[in-house]
Amino acid sequence: MDRSVTLEKSDLNNTNFLENQDYYLNLISELMNIRKRGEVPLAYIHTYGCQQNVADSEKIKGMLSKAGFEFVDGPDDADFILFNTCAVREHAEDRVFGNVGALKKIKKKHPQIMIAVCGCMMEQKHIAERMYNSFPFVSLVFGTHSLQNFPELYYRALFSGKRVYERDNDDKKIYEGIPIKRDGTFKGWLPIMYGCDNFCTYCIVPYVRGRERSRKSADVISEAKELINSGYKDITLLGQNVNSYGKGLDEDITFAKLLGEIDKIPGDYWLRFMTSHPKDCSKELIDTIASGEHISTHLHLPFQSGSDRILKKMNRHYDRKKYLEIINYAKEKIPNLSLTSDIIVGFPGETYEDFKETLSLIREVEFTSLFTFIYSPRVGTPAAKMDDPIPAEEKSKWFQELLAVQEEIAAKRCASMVGKKEKILVESVNKKNNKLQCRNSGNIIVECDGDENLIGTFQTAEITEARNWILKGKLI
Ligand code: SAH
Ligand code: SF4
Ligand code: F3S
Repeated sequence: MDRSVTLEKSDLNNTNFLENQDYYLNLISELMNIRKRGEVPLAYIHTYGCQQNVADSEKIKGMLSKAGFEFVDGPDDADFILFNTCAVREHAEDRVFGNVGALKKIKKKHPQIMIAVCGCMMEQKHIAERMYNSFPFVSLVFGTHSLQNFPELYYRALFSGKRVYERDNDDKKIYEGIPIKRDGTFKGWLPIMYGCDNFCTYCIVPYVRGRERSRKSADVISEAKELINSGYKDITLLGQNVNSYGKGLDEDITFAKLLGEIDKIPGDYWLRFMTSHPKDCSKELIDTIASGEHISTHLHLPFQSGSDRILKKMNRHYDRKKYLEIINYAKEKIPNLSLTSDIIVGFPGETYEDFKETLSLIREVEFTSLFTFIYSPRVGTPAAKMDDPIPAEEKSKWFQELLAVQEEIAAKRCASMVGKKEKILVESVNKKNNKLQCRNSGNIIVECDGDENLIGTFQTAEITEARNWILKGKLI
């Protein structure tokens, strides 16, 4: 191969960015065709973190599909391995380092394999450098802001045989039209905005995902139509704070309006969204959910802490009273509302008294389920510099206490549903007990006996039994 040839964007007469990227996909396809002597090239994409990352990986898969790749469930037979990483907690990062390290053996056995790491972790300089320096067999490192350049970066690494390291790209435009290969055939993710401007003091997301920017409503609505018309039954609108959707757009739109517009699209489907920030959760939004035809009766509204003192230190811009006001309004307006939340235990300076306020809040609201996290310091965030005197073992005890209280609440909530008839979406078969794994509009798991041909369809079930946070039902 002639390695003296380099290809710069300026070599191409084509001014359209995505067409340029398509050009690289063609080159990748040709190169892989020669290397694999006509056999289909295989990729293994492993995604960590939130649905935003899942949606990004679906775009990378879309681009790779266009270059002729098919996908495998493990790294052993792959020609291209990519880890799309999450930086939100230390534990997530440690797992990535461990799993990338384990690829060394595969690379030794098959030196032709290309290993790449991307995503939120790679937008942190010290982490990306550690990845690049510790693992010489990783050929390609790129951050979240370089997703649209993936074909070009991959091609550069393939063609030159040299390692490519690309992060801190300051191109913050939204690129419409990147191909998407969705993981599911009836559950779909639909990003409506990117980035976050909230700077909660514990959180790394604004640093690794950049400033908040919204997609035009016409683009979102047209993607929603496409999903609904191709049979998607459960569509989740994604953003770090969907309630501030529309800021900076040249149109008169709010999240509630967008949701209302999508809800007008005819079809049999559920519409969900995450995440809602309580500081911007409007009554207009609750009214839209209440009057919606397709909008699920599930509201994920992370409160993080029940203590006003801690909420202030977290820079969350609401207090317990405001949170409860919106929750009570929602409960009043939306029958069968299922509430879920995120909670951080052991934020720097949190005392047991503060923690008890979190417990009392979850008792008062009665959430269906909770995503609970022990605080993890993130380099570069304000909270990482705050005094944190409570030992890890103590935080762990509080955490266990929280889980026990929530288990009791979830069990009570689920028990109250026995005897009710619920519309459910059949999602999969639970291999352990051969039961159909389904979900109701409130996002609660319902297990039923039934034929696996029903996967991807709506059914009705009578709830016969409650087991902690899972319901058992009988198909009607
Ligand atoms: N944008 C969403 C959440 C994104 S991160 C929101 O504002 O709700 C998902 C959850 O991870 C957060 O809600 C928070 O509970 C948790 N989290 C974020 N940073 C964390 C940290 N440093 N330590 C522990 N948990 C954290
Ligand atoms: Fe992080 Fe706060 Fe933004 Fe959510 S709203 S992503 S918790 S900074
Ligand atoms: Fe993780 Fe990035 Fe999402 S840090 S939680 S994957 S936005």
